[in-house]
Amino acid sequence: MQAMTEQLKADLERLRQTASARLTDASDAASVDELRSTLLGRNGELTTLLKQLGDVPVAERPSIGQLANAVRGEVETAISRRLDELRGADLDRRLADESIDMSAPGRSVRVGHLHPLMMVERDLREIFHAFGFEIYEGPEIETEAMNFEALNIPPDHPARDLWDTLYVAEPGSVEQGLPRPAEDGTILRTHTSPVQVRAMLDLRPPIRIITPGRCFRYEAVDASHNFEFFQVEGLVVDRSTSLADLKGMLEQFARAMYGDGTRTRFRPGYYPFTEPSVAFDVNCLVCGGSGCPACSRTGWMTILGAGMVHPHVLRAGNIDPDEHQGYAFGMGLDRMTVLRYGIPDLRLLMGADLRFLEQFPMGA
Ligand code: DAH
Repeated sequence: MQAMTEQLKADLERLRQTASARLTDASDAASVDELRSTLLGRNGELTTLLKQLGDVPVAERPSIGQLANAVRGEVETAISRRLDELRGADLDRRLADESIDMSAPGRSVRVGHLHPLMMVERDLREIFHAFGFEIYEGPEIETEAMNFEALNIPPDHPARDLWDTLYVAEPGSVEQGLPRPAEDGTILRTHTSPVQVRAMLDLRPPIRIITPGRCFRYEAVDASHNFEFFQVEGLVVDRSTSLADLKGMLEQFARAMYGDGTRTRFRPGYYPFTEPSVAFDVNCLVCGGSGCPACSRTGWMTILGAGMVHPHVLRAGNIDPDEHQGYAFGMGLDRMTVLRYGIPDLRLLMGADLRFLEQFPMGA
């Protein structure tokens, strides 16, 4: 019996002594919790030892009980100390990891910019906005009726030769190896002029719009021609709108776009959808007017076509030519852009090559 008591005491002492080393090995709160139940839990080591209490003489039991309580108390204290320690270490680590170095240099944000074509288009939008024009956009996929007929270009009219058209194919049709043009006359618009008619049908006079947009032609592509390009069309319809209004407005426009000293001139022109029609020139943007290869040594450059809207076109837009008159103008954005930036080849604009595009930061 005596031996039993001694053995139990020794076991309790060992538990007391090893507990602290085992706690040191527990490296996080979860392992400490686990150790707590291994040592002090209902089926833990201390409880298991105390089950032998029945084998100890009654007289010895109080002192063993005291020892067991002391051990439990110590182990519990050691456990809370260890938990505090671990929490402290964890906090230290997080403070170190999550600290922000306010003196570190910032990462630079890559800021893109508009495509050069769109920069010129924005300038046009701004200038015409100041003149009281609104933006009115139309579809890139058009009907032949809108693109030609409504603009006073009948099917057999020789003027159609001016616009080499890209036809949308009839779905599934192939004749002699080639797709057949859609029967409903669906095409890619060859100019922004059909938007004039759409605007007239949609809005009521007074109308004062510009219609920027992408156009397509079946072109032999070279440095100054592309099959895909941009135009900005303008249309004004009101009572007693005159050619004088058109001239005044375009002169103001040329100064706003190219500077106060810009010289301008009007020449007679021909477009089926305007009568009379004019070509509008500014002094050469490359040589300033003295004559160079860019202006074929004339000193002038044509920047747009314009005229008084033909009565047939007004009628196609459901407007009575006896009550309202209008003027219209159309210009090519690509040419204006290459001239502004001195770009040698129009095709670069559609090349999607960042090495080229990144050379045109905003505001340049
Ligand atoms: N649509 C013409 C073209 O593509 C440009 C043009 C000329 C538009 C005269 C007009 C205009 O509105 O009045 O060449």
